[in-house]
Amino acid sequence: MAARILITGATGTVGRPLVQSLVQTRSRTHGDAIVAGIHTPAKQNQFDALGIETVLLDYADPKSIRAALAGVTRLFLVTGYSVDMLVHAKNVLDAAHAVHVEHVVHLGAAGSESQPYPHLAWHAYVESYIQTLGFSYTHLRPRTYMTNVLRGLRRGSTVIRQFFDNSAVTWIDPGDIAAVAAAALLNPSAHRNAAYTLAAEALPLSEVASTLARATNIPFTYEPLDPARALEALTKAGMEPVYCKSLARHINDVALGVNSAVSDVNDTIEKVTGRPRARWNDFAQRHRDTIRRIVNGES
Ligand SMILES: NC(=O)c1ccc[n+]([C@@H]2O[C@H](COP(=O)([O-])OP(=O)(O)OC[C@H]3O[C@@H](n4cnc5c(N)ncnc54)[C@H](OP(=O)(O)O)[C@@H]3O)[C@@H](O)[C@H]2O)c1
Repeated sequence: MAARILITGATGTVGRPLVQSLVQTRSRTHGDAIVAGIHTPAKQNQFDALGIETVLLDYADPKSIRAALAGVTRLFLVTGYSVDMLVHAKNVLDAAHAVHVEHVVHLGAAGSESQPYPHLAWHAYVESYIQTLGFSYTHLRPRTYMTNVLRGLRRGSTVIRQFFDNSAVTWIDPGDIAAVAAAALLNPSAHRNAAYTLAAEALPLSEVASTLARATNIPFTYEPLDPARALEALTKAGMEPVYCKSLARHINDVALGVNSAVSDVNDTIEKVTGRPRARWNDFAQRHRDTIRRIVNGES
Protein backbone atom coordinates (compact mmCIF):
# COMPACT_ATOMS: atom_id res chain seq x y z
CA MET A 1 0.00 0.00 0.00
CA ALA A 2 1.27 3.50 -0.82
CA ALA A 3 2.50 5.48 2.17
CA ARG A 4 1.47 8.96 3.19
CA ILE A 5 4.52 10.81 4.51
CA LEU A 6 4.11 13.97 6.61
CA ILE A 7 7.16 16.25 6.89
CA THR A 8 6.76 18.57 9.86
CA GLY A 9 8.90 21.71 9.88
CA ALA A 10 8.96 21.53 6.08
CA THR A 11 10.18 25.13 5.79
CA GLY A 12 13.09 24.53 8.18
CA THR A 13 16.80 23.94 7.73
CA VAL A 14 16.39 20.17 7.44
CA GLY A 15 12.73 20.01 6.41
CA ARG A 16 13.21 22.00 3.22
CA PRO A 17 16.01 19.85 1.69
CA LEU A 18 14.14 16.76 2.91
CA VAL A 19 11.02 17.70 0.95
CA GLN A 20 13.17 18.44 -2.11
CA SER A 21 14.95 15.13 -1.77
CA LEU A 22 11.65 13.21 -1.49
CA VAL A 23 10.24 15.03 -4.50
CA GLN A 24 13.35 14.20 -6.54
CA THR A 25 13.06 10.52 -5.71
CA ARG A 26 9.30 10.43 -6.23
CA SER A 27 9.71 8.07 -9.13
CA ARG A 28 10.99 5.53 -6.57
CA THR A 29 8.25 6.13 -4.04
CA HIS A 30 5.66 3.94 -5.74
CA GLY A 31 2.89 6.49 -5.47
CA ASP A 32 3.68 7.51 -1.88
CA ALA A 33 2.14 10.89 -1.02
CA ILE A 34 4.43 13.59 0.37
CA VAL A 35 2.76 16.17 2.58
CA ALA A 36 4.61 19.31 3.71
CA GLY A 37 3.60 20.48 7.20
CA ILE A 38 3.71 24.28 7.34
CA HIS A 39 3.57 26.41 10.47
CA THR A 40 3.44 29.94 9.04
CA PRO A 41 0.58 30.34 6.52
CA ALA A 42 2.54 32.90 4.47
CA LYS A 43 5.14 30.21 3.70
CA GLN A 44 2.63 27.73 2.29
CA ASN A 45 3.04 28.86 -1.32
CA GLN A 46 6.78 28.04 -1.22
CA PHE A 47 5.81 24.52 -2.21
CA ASP A 48 3.49 25.35 -5.11
CA ALA A 49 6.16 24.66 -7.72
CA LEU A 50 6.91 21.22 -6.27
CA GLY A 51 3.39 19.98 -6.86
CA ILE A 52 2.95 18.39 -3.45
CA GLU A 53 0.28 18.66 -0.80
CA THR A 54 0.72 21.13 2.01
CA VAL A 55 -1.05 21.27 5.34
CA LEU A 56 -1.04 23.95 8.02
CA LEU A 57 -0.20 22.75 11.50
CA ASP A 58 0.69 24.33 14.79
CA TYR A 59 2.14 22.05 17.47
CA ALA A 60 0.32 24.05 20.11
CA ASP A 61 -3.04 23.37 18.43
CA PRO A 62 -4.04 19.69 18.75
CA LYS A 63 -6.93 20.16 16.28
CA SER A 64 -4.55 21.24 13.52
CA ILE A 65 -2.23 18.32 14.36
CA ARG A 66 -5.07 15.81 14.10
CA ALA A 67 -6.12 17.25 10.73
CA ALA A 68 -2.55 17.15 9.41
CA LEU A 69 -2.10 13.54 10.46
CA ALA A 70 -5.25 12.19 8.80
CA GLY A 71 -4.22 9.11 6.81
CA VAL A 72 -0.51 9.59 7.53
CA THR A 73 1.56 6.39 7.81
CA ARG A 74 5.10 7.79 8.12
CA LEU A 75 6.13 10.91 10.02
CA PHE A 76 9.18 13.16 10.09
CA LEU A 77 9.16 15.02 13.41
CA VAL A 78 11.15 18.18 13.99
CA THR A 79 10.66 20.56 16.89
CA GLY A 80 12.15 23.99 17.53
CA TYR A 81 14.69 25.60 19.84
CA SER A 82 12.53 25.90 22.94
CA VAL A 83 11.59 23.88 26.00
CA ASP A 84 8.14 23.80 24.40
CA MET A 85 9.61 21.02 22.23
CA LEU A 86 8.58 18.58 24.97
CA VAL A 87 4.92 19.56 24.84
CA HIS A 88 4.98 19.89 21.05
CA ALA A 89 6.54 16.46 20.51
CA LYS A 90 4.06 14.84 22.89
CA ASN A 91 1.11 16.49 21.14
CA VAL A 92 2.26 15.22 17.75
CA LEU A 93 3.21 11.73 18.92
CA ASP A 94 -0.07 11.18 20.80
CA ALA A 95 -2.04 12.19 17.72
CA ALA A 96 0.18 10.02 15.49
CA HIS A 97 -0.36 7.05 17.79
CA ALA A 98 -4.13 7.56 17.66
CA VAL A 99 -4.16 7.30 13.85
CA HIS A 100 -1.73 4.35 13.78
CA VAL A 101 1.25 6.06 12.14
CA GLU A 102 3.72 3.23 11.54
CA HIS A 103 7.16 4.81 11.33
CA VAL A 104 8.54 7.96 12.97
CA VAL A 105 11.81 9.59 11.92
CA HIS A 106 12.77 12.01 14.70
CA LEU A 107 15.26 14.85 14.35
CA GLY A 108 17.05 14.87 17.70
CA ALA A 109 20.63 15.66 18.62
CA ALA A 110 23.87 13.79 19.20
CA GLY A 111 24.88 13.28 22.79
CA SER A 112 21.29 13.24 23.95
CA GLU A 113 21.70 10.03 25.90
CA SER A 114 24.80 10.71 27.91
CA GLN A 115 25.40 14.42 28.33
CA PRO A 116 24.43 16.86 31.04
CA TYR A 117 22.69 19.53 28.94
CA PRO A 118 18.91 19.63 29.30
CA HIS A 119 18.25 20.70 25.70
CA LEU A 120 19.98 17.51 24.52
CA ALA A 121 18.48 15.26 27.19
CA TRP A 122 14.98 16.37 26.12
CA HIS A 123 15.61 14.70 22.77
CA ALA A 124 16.35 11.47 24.66
CA TYR A 125 12.97 11.85 26.43
CA VAL A 126 11.25 12.22 23.07
CA GLU A 127 13.08 9.19 21.67
CA SER A 128 11.99 7.14 24.70
CA TYR A 129 8.41 8.25 24.25
CA ILE A 130 8.48 7.25 20.58
CA GLN A 131 9.63 3.79 21.66
CA THR A 132 7.12 3.60 24.53
CA LEU A 133 4.25 4.25 22.13
CA GLY A 134 5.47 1.36 20.01
CA PHE A 135 6.24 3.12 16.74
CA SER A 136 8.81 1.72 14.39
CA TYR A 137 11.43 4.49 14.48
CA THR A 138 14.64 6.01 13.17
CA HIS A 139 16.35 8.40 15.59
CA LEU A 140 18.57 11.01 13.91
CA ARG A 141 21.21 12.51 16.18
CA PRO A 142 23.13 15.24 14.38
CA ARG A 143 26.02 17.34 15.67
CA THR A 144 26.36 21.07 14.91
CA TYR A 145 24.87 22.27 11.62
CA MET A 146 27.31 23.85 9.15
CA THR A 147 24.50 26.24 8.22
CA ASN A 148 24.80 27.87 11.67
CA VAL A 149 27.96 29.59 10.39
CA LEU A 150 26.19 30.95 7.29
CA ARG A 151 23.48 32.36 9.51
CA GLY A 152 26.12 34.44 11.33
CA LEU A 153 27.48 36.04 8.14
CA ARG A 154 26.81 39.76 7.65
CA ARG A 155 26.79 42.07 4.66
CA GLY A 156 30.17 43.73 4.17
CA SER A 157 31.91 41.66 6.87
CA THR A 158 34.54 39.01 6.32
CA VAL A 159 34.90 38.23 10.01
CA ILE A 160 33.26 35.08 11.37
CA ARG A 161 32.42 35.50 15.04
CA GLN A 162 31.48 32.50 17.17
CA PHE A 163 31.70 31.51 20.83
CA PHE A 164 33.65 28.25 20.40
CA ASP A 165 37.13 29.73 20.95
CA ASN A 166 39.47 27.63 18.82
CA SER A 167 38.26 24.22 19.94
CA ALA A 168 37.27 21.63 17.40
CA VAL A 169 33.54 21.58 16.70
CA THR A 170 31.90 18.51 15.19
CA TRP A 171 29.86 19.42 12.11
CA ILE A 172 27.20 18.09 9.81
CA ASP A 173 25.58 19.45 6.63
CA PRO A 174 21.77 19.60 7.14
CA GLY A 175 21.50 18.45 3.52
CA ASP A 176 23.05 15.16 4.62
CA ILE A 177 20.68 14.90 7.60
CA ALA A 178 17.85 15.34 5.10
CA ALA A 179 19.30 12.62 2.86
CA VAL A 180 19.36 10.14 5.76
CA ALA A 181 15.82 11.13 6.78
CA ALA A 182 14.63 10.59 3.20
CA ALA A 183 16.20 7.13 3.09
CA ALA A 184 14.48 6.17 6.36
CA LEU A 185 11.11 7.55 5.26
CA LEU A 186 11.19 5.83 1.87
CA ASN A 187 12.48 2.50 3.16
CA PRO A 188 11.56 2.23 6.85
CA SER A 189 12.22 -1.49 7.10
CA ALA A 190 15.91 -0.91 6.25
CA HIS A 191 16.22 1.67 9.04
CA ARG A 192 13.76 0.25 11.53
CA ASN A 193 14.62 0.96 15.18
CA ALA A 194 17.97 2.49 14.28
CA ALA A 195 19.70 5.46 15.92
CA TYR A 196 22.16 7.38 13.74
CA THR A 197 24.75 9.81 15.08
CA LEU A 198 25.41 12.20 12.20
CA ALA A 199 28.82 13.85 12.44
CA ALA A 200 30.86 14.50 9.32
CA GLU A 201 33.96 16.42 10.34
CA ALA A 202 35.61 17.99 13.39
CA LEU A 203 37.14 21.39 12.67
CA PRO A 204 37.92 24.57 14.66
CA LEU A 205 36.34 27.79 13.45
CA SER A 206 39.70 29.19 12.29
CA GLU A 207 39.88 26.34 9.75
CA VAL A 208 36.23 26.78 8.82
CA ALA A 209 37.02 30.43 8.02
CA SER A 210 40.04 29.53 5.86
CA THR A 211 38.00 26.85 4.05
CA LEU A 212 35.28 29.40 3.27
CA ALA A 213 37.96 31.86 2.13
CA ARG A 214 39.44 29.35 -0.31
CA ALA A 215 36.04 28.43 -1.74
CA THR A 216 34.80 31.99 -2.20
CA ASN A 217 37.97 34.09 -2.64
CA ILE A 218 36.67 36.25 0.19
CA PRO A 219 39.32 36.82 2.92
CA PHE A 220 37.33 35.34 5.82
CA THR A 221 38.96 35.33 9.24
CA TYR A 222 37.75 34.01 12.59
CA GLU A 223 37.31 36.14 15.69
CA PRO A 224 36.50 34.10 18.80
CA LEU A 225 33.91 35.70 21.03
CA ASP A 226 34.08 35.34 24.81
CA PRO A 227 32.07 32.15 25.56
CA ALA A 228 31.03 33.68 28.88
CA ARG A 229 28.92 36.13 26.84
CA ALA A 230 27.02 33.45 24.90
CA LEU A 231 24.06 33.47 27.29
CA GLU A 232 23.68 37.22 27.02
CA ALA A 233 23.91 37.12 23.21
CA LEU A 234 21.43 34.26 22.80
CA THR A 235 19.00 35.98 25.18
CA LYS A 236 19.32 39.21 23.24
CA ALA A 237 18.62 37.30 20.03
CA GLY A 238 15.28 36.25 21.53
CA MET A 239 15.90 32.58 22.32
CA GLU A 240 13.52 31.05 24.85
CA PRO A 241 15.25 31.35 28.29
CA VAL A 242 15.27 27.71 29.48
CA TYR A 243 16.66 26.40 26.17
CA CYS A 244 19.04 29.34 25.99
CA LYS A 245 20.62 28.62 29.38
CA SER A 246 21.29 25.00 28.47
CA LEU A 247 22.68 25.85 25.02
CA ALA A 248 24.95 28.56 26.44
CA ARG A 249 26.36 26.05 28.94
CA HIS A 250 26.99 23.58 26.14
CA ILE A 251 28.74 26.23 24.01
CA ASN A 252 30.95 27.19 26.97
CA ASP A 253 32.00 23.59 27.47
CA VAL A 254 32.78 23.05 23.78
CA ALA A 255 34.88 26.24 23.85
CA LEU A 256 36.80 24.78 26.80
CA GLY A 257 37.39 21.61 24.79
CA VAL A 258 34.87 19.59 26.82
CA ASN A 259 32.28 17.67 24.82
CA SER A 260 33.55 18.73 21.41
CA ALA A 261 32.70 15.15 20.39
CA VAL A 262 35.49 14.78 17.84
CA SER A 263 35.23 11.02 18.28
CA ASP A 264 31.63 11.07 17.00
CA VAL A 265 32.77 11.57 13.39
CA ASN A 266 31.62 8.55 11.42
CA ASP A 267 30.58 7.27 7.99
CA THR A 268 26.84 6.85 8.59
CA ILE A 269 26.02 9.18 5.69
CA GLU A 270 28.00 6.95 3.32
CA LYS A 271 26.45 3.79 4.71
CA VAL A 272 22.87 5.05 4.54
CA THR A 273 22.93 7.11 1.34
CA GLY A 274 25.72 5.46 -0.64
CA ARG A 275 27.40 8.81 -1.34
CA PRO A 276 30.21 10.71 0.40
CA ARG A 277 29.31 12.94 3.34
CA ALA A 278 29.84 16.68 2.92
CA ARG A 279 32.90 17.99 4.70
CA TRP A 280 33.45 21.71 5.14
CA ASN A 281 35.21 22.01 1.78
CA ASP A 282 32.24 20.42 -0.03
CA PHE A 283 29.74 22.53 1.89
CA ALA A 284 31.69 25.73 1.15
CA GLN A 285 31.90 24.93 -2.57
CA ARG A 286 28.19 24.13 -2.72
CA HIS A 287 27.18 27.36 -0.97
CA ARG A 288 29.81 29.74 -2.31
CA ASP A 289 27.37 31.79 -4.43
CA THR A 290 25.02 32.20 -1.47
CA ILE A 291 27.94 33.23 0.75
CA ARG A 292 29.12 35.78 -1.82
CA ARG A 293 25.60 37.17 -2.12
CA ILE A 294 25.31 37.59 1.66
CA VAL A 295 28.68 39.31 2.03
CA ASN A 296 28.08 41.49 -1.04
CA GLY A 297 24.64 42.45 0.28
CA GLU A 298 22.77 40.94 -2.65
CA SER A 299 20.38 38.80 -0.62
N1 LIG B 1 21.29 23.84 14.74
C1 LIG B 1 22.06 22.84 15.14
O1 LIG B 1 23.29 22.93 15.09
C2 LIG B 1 21.43 21.56 15.64
C3 LIG B 1 22.27 20.49 15.97
C4 LIG B 1 21.72 19.30 16.42
C5 LIG B 1 20.35 19.18 16.54
N2 LIG B 1 19.55 20.24 16.21
C6 LIG B 1 18.08 20.06 16.38
O2 LIG B 1 17.40 20.41 15.19
C7 LIG B 1 16.07 20.78 15.52
C8 LIG B 1 15.66 21.98 14.72
O3 LIG B 1 15.80 21.66 13.37
P1 LIG B 1 15.95 22.78 12.25
O4 LIG B 1 17.16 23.62 12.53
O5 LIG B 1 15.82 22.14 10.94
O6 LIG B 1 14.71 23.71 12.59
P2 LIG B 1 14.37 25.13 12.01
O7 LIG B 1 15.16 25.47 10.79
O8 LIG B 1 14.36 26.09 13.15
O9 LIG B 1 12.88 24.85 11.53
C9 LIG B 1 11.85 24.57 12.45
C10 LIG B 1 10.63 24.24 11.65
O10 LIG B 1 9.55 23.96 12.56
C11 LIG B 1 8.46 24.83 12.27
N3 LIG B 1 7.79 25.19 13.50
C12 LIG B 1 8.21 26.05 14.45
N4 LIG B 1 7.29 26.15 15.41
C13 LIG B 1 6.25 25.33 15.07
C14 LIG B 1 4.99 25.04 15.65
N5 LIG B 1 4.59 25.61 16.80
N6 LIG B 1 4.18 24.17 15.01
C15 LIG B 1 4.55 23.58 13.85
N7 LIG B 1 5.73 23.84 13.24
C16 LIG B 1 6.58 24.71 13.85
C17 LIG B 1 9.10 26.06 11.62
O11 LIG B 1 8.16 26.77 10.85
P3 LIG B 1 8.16 28.40 10.88
O12 LIG B 1 9.53 28.82 10.47
O13 LIG B 1 7.12 28.80 9.91
O14 LIG B 1 7.84 28.80 12.30
C18 LIG B 1 10.18 25.39 10.77
O15 LIG B 1 9.66 24.88 9.57
C19 LIG B 1 16.04 21.04 17.03
O16 LIG B 1 15.33 20.01 17.67
C20 LIG B 1 17.51 20.99 17.43
O17 LIG B 1 17.70 20.47 18.73
C21 LIG B 1 20.04 21.39 15.75
